[in-house]
Amino acid sequence: MIITIDGPAGTGKSSVSKAVAERLAYDFLDTGAMYRAIALEAVRRKADLSDPRELAFIAKHCRIEFDWTQTPPEVLLNDEPVSHLLRDAQVTSAASHVAVVPAIREQLVAQQQRIGLARPNLVTEGRDQGSVVFPHAQLKFYLDATPQERARRRAAQLRARGQFVDHQEILTQIMTRDHRDSTRSTGPLAIPKGAQAVDTTLLTEQQVVDLIVNKANALQGHG
Ligand code: DC
Repeated sequence: MIITIDGPAGTGKSSVSKAVAERLAYDFLDTGAMYRAIALEAVRRKADLSDPRELAFIAKHCRIEFDWTQTPPEVLLNDEPVSHLLRDAQVTSAASHVAVVPAIREQLVAQQQRIGLARPNLVTEGRDQGSVVFPHAQLKFYLDATPQERARRRAAQLRARGQFVDHQEILTQIMTRDHRDSTRSTGPLAIPKGAQAVDTTLLTEQQVVDLIVNKANALQGHG
């Protein structure tokens, strides 16, 4: 069974998806990490982020793989383990430029679909998983929360990592990214057809995980 979990940044998607995959003993696919890996390469090459052709060229020369033996799977960029470099602010910002390039989306969508065939018990997380990549997935969710709550969560995450946090700046970044993600022409962020929308503003991570796991178990007939 393929479970898709889409939604904007800061809805707890990542932690929820990881936890659901672990509870169900499924593989976990972080598709944002694939856009981020290309963004890392673009940053390293000092690419012009406003030039889609340059970004698409760079993407063509990126071989992105996952080491599925690790939990969560390690991201390999041309054989180099890069997971620890993907959350950097510069990479995060570059990723949202990378993600608007149609040729890059096509490349990654095709790769994600191949992963889905090879690993049929999959929890996959992103923006377009239930709409574009796996429109026939058996179980689809769309997680959301108010921008203020998402900014609060992101700030707490950064603070826990010992980073300096400007709450207003984070809120502005989140709203800018939302806008870019939901207005792009290819694979825009939207509630996929047939997806259950979950407003996580007032829910704990555990409650969201339970909701998804219970649905999955019910669908498999052992709930
Ligand atoms: O989920 P994330 O923050 O790791 O995603 C990084 C960037 O990639 C973000 O700008 C959204 C974009 N993205 C996307 O467009 N489609 C996906 N399936 C996953 C991520």
